Amino acid sequence: VSEANARAILETTVDGIITIDADGGIESFNEAAEDIFGYDAHEVMGKNVRILMPEPYREEHDNYLHRYHETGEQRIIGIGREVTGRRKDGSTFPMDLAVSEVQRHDRITFTGIVRDISERRRLEQEILSIS
Ligand code: HEM
Repeated sequence: VSEANARAILETTVDGIITIDADGGIESFNEAAEDIFGYDAHEVMGKNVRILMPEPYREEHDNYLHRYHETGEQRIIGIGREVTGRRKDGSTFPMDLAVSEVQRHDRITFTGIVRDISERRRLEQEILSIS
């Protein structure tokens, strides 16, 4: 894929795509991520990814990264997980999270793909309450 194509994909996908460095610092934040979390990309650039989650994850996420660097044991990478995200206004929502490790030159980065699944959850509840 060309650079222009890659950029077009990043800008039009409905999934939030976030890249972080080894310490959790946000390096990129696409438009869908802006819509999902309510932040402009420039507001979160360089900040720790933990600002996008509620407690207790917020407190623990640095430890998760540290544990991964120490052990190499993948608990979300390549597996995925349903977690809780936190928007700029403080509200929380269920989201699917997929993480992959990307080796860039001499350093490690991580790419996270996030999907807001609150509408799916709401519909499930509605269906359950009918039956
Ligand atoms: C690990 C939560 C976003 C990258 C973890 C773990 C949790 C978690 C609970 C530890 C899993 C375990 O030890 O069982 C969250 C929550 C998020 C979030 C609630 C909501 C915003 C992200 C994003 C990225 C990311 C956006 C990458 C861009 C990682 C990495 C690990 C990790 C690299 C360690 C590797 C692994 O356990 O496989 N996260 N995370 N996280 N997370 Fe996040």
